[in-house]
Amino acid sequence: MSKLFINASNRKSKINKEIYSHFSEHLGRCIYGGLYVGEDSPVPNTNGMRNDVVEALKNIRIPALRWPGGCFADEYHWMDGIGEKSKRKKLINTNWGGVLEDNSFGTHEFMELCRQLGCEPYISGNLGSGTVQEMHDWIEYITFDGVSPMADLRRANGHPEPWKLKFFGFGNECWGCGGNMRPEYYADEFRRYQTFARNYSGNELYRIACGPNGDDYNWTETVMRLAGKFMNALSLHYYTVPNTWEDKGSATEFTEAEWYKTLHKTLYMEELINHHTSIMDRYDPEHKVGLVVDEWGTWYNVEPGTNPSFLYQQNTMRDALVAAINLNIFNKHSDRVVMANIAQVVNVLQSVILTEGDKMILTPTYHVFDLYKDHQDATLIESFVEAETIGGEDTVPSLHESASVSEDGTVHVTLANLSIDKAYPVEALLAGLDAKSVTAKILTNKYNAFNTFEAPNTVKIEDFKDITTTADGFRFEIPACSVMELTIA
Ligand code: AHR
Repeated sequence: MSKLFINASNRKSKINKEIYSHFSEHLGRCIYGGLYVGEDSPVPNTNGMRNDVVEALKNIRIPALRWPGGCFADEYHWMDGIGEKSKRKKLINTNWGGVLEDNSFGTHEFMELCRQLGCEPYISGNLGSGTVQEMHDWIEYITFDGVSPMADLRRANGHPEPWKLKFFGFGNECWGCGGNMRPEYYADEFRRYQTFARNYSGNELYRIACGPNGDDYNWTETVMRLAGKFMNALSLHYYTVPNTWEDKGSATEFTEAEWYKTLHKTLYMEELINHHTSIMDRYDPEHKVGLVVDEWGTWYNVEPGTNPSFLYQQNTMRDALVAAINLNIFNKHSDRVVMANIAQVVNVLQSVILTEGDKMILTPTYHVFDLYKDHQDATLIESFVEAETIGGEDTVPSLHESASVSEDGTVHVTLANLSIDKAYPVEALLAGLDAKSVTAKILTNKYNAFNTFEAPNTVKIEDFKDITTTADGFRFEIPACSVMELTIA
C-alpha cells in the first residue's frame, strides 16, 4: 500500500497563478489559424479571435500569455504590426519556415486577445536585433497616458487609453537564437535596455532577464552576479526531448522504454530548479528575484506530412503525465518559481489545444491544466508520497504529488501514477485539517491514447468515486497511467 501524507498545518509558499501560464509565438499555426483567424473568417470569432479557443482557455483560467516569441521575438519590430492592416509590412518569418508574415496580428490584436482571455500580457522584447530606442518606444506606446509621440500614435491607431503591461522580457534565448551572446555581454545589455524601459503612468514593469538554457549554470551565476539587482526575475528554458535533437521520437508511437525515458527526462526539471535556485540564493538570499520557466514541455518529431518548421505534434497520455509532473514540481518550488509558460498554447509543441480549420480539440495536457487549476493562487502545503522506484534503466517514482490549500480552507491534491501498467492502492493520511468530504476527478487511459478531430473525447476527465474514508484519512486505488485531483473539504 502506497502512502500519501498531507499536512495542512505546514503552510509554505503561495502558488502564483502565473505558474499556469502559456506561450504563443508567430510559429506555424499558433497565432494564425490557432488563436487568430481575422474578422472576415468563417470561423466564429470576436474581433478576429477564435471564440472556441478563447472559451476553452478561459475555462482553465489562463493567467498570462507570452508573445511574440521565442526566437521570433528577437527579429520582431513592433512598428510593423500597428496601424491600418492593409498597409502593414509583409515580410518573411526567417525563423520558422520562411512563410509570409503579414503582421495582421500585432500589439493591438495581442492586447485584445488578452482582454478577451482575462489574462496578463507577457511581452518578450527584442534585444537581439532591435534597439534600445525601439524597446523604449514600444513600452511608451503601450503604457503612457500623457502627451508623447508614441502615446499619440496609439491614440491615432484607435486606442485612446493606455494598456496595463506587467510582464516584460528582455530578449529570448540570448545565448542562442537571440544573439549568441556570452553571459557577461548579455548582463551589460540587459542593464542598458532595462534602464530605458520606463514605468509610465503608474504602470510597473516586472523585468524578466534572459536566463539559462537547461543546465548552463555559468549563465545564471554570471547574469545574477552582474545584473541580479536590476531584475525582477530570470527565465529558464528546458524541453523534454525523449531521444536526440536530431531524431526526437514520435509523439504517438513509442515504446514502454521511451515512456519511462521521457518521464525520467522531465523529472530533471527539479534538479535544474534546485541548482539554479542555489546559485540565485547566493546573490538573492531573500528570494526577491523569481525564476520564470517561460518555455517547457515535450518536443517530438513533427506529425508526418506536416511542415517541419511548424513544430506541430500530437499529444498523448504521456504528455499528460509530463504536464502533471512539471506542474507538481513548480508548485513545490513556488518559493522561487513565480511563473511558467508551457510551449506552446495552440498547434505548436506540447499544446493544450489543436485546431484544424473550424474544428478544435482539447489535448490530454489541456485536461491536466483543468485538473490543476484549483492550485492557482492557493498556498502550498506539506505533502509527500511513499512511492516505489519503477522504470528499469530510466528510473522514476511510481507516484508524484503536490498539495495546496485555498483561502476557503479546501485542500487540493494532485497525484499522478507514472506506471504504464500498474495500479496502486493508496492510503491517504491527513493532518492539520478536519476533513468532512473527499471528492476526486481523474484523467486516465492507455499510455498512448490521444484525442483526434474524429474522436475528440477519447481522453477526458471523469469523476472518480471509489474512495473509502478511514480514521486518519481515506483509501483508494489509483489506476495505471493516470492523473487525479482530490478535493478535501
Ligand atoms: O518554442 C519553440 C522555440 O524553442 C522558441 O522559439 C525558442 O525560444 C526555443 O528554442
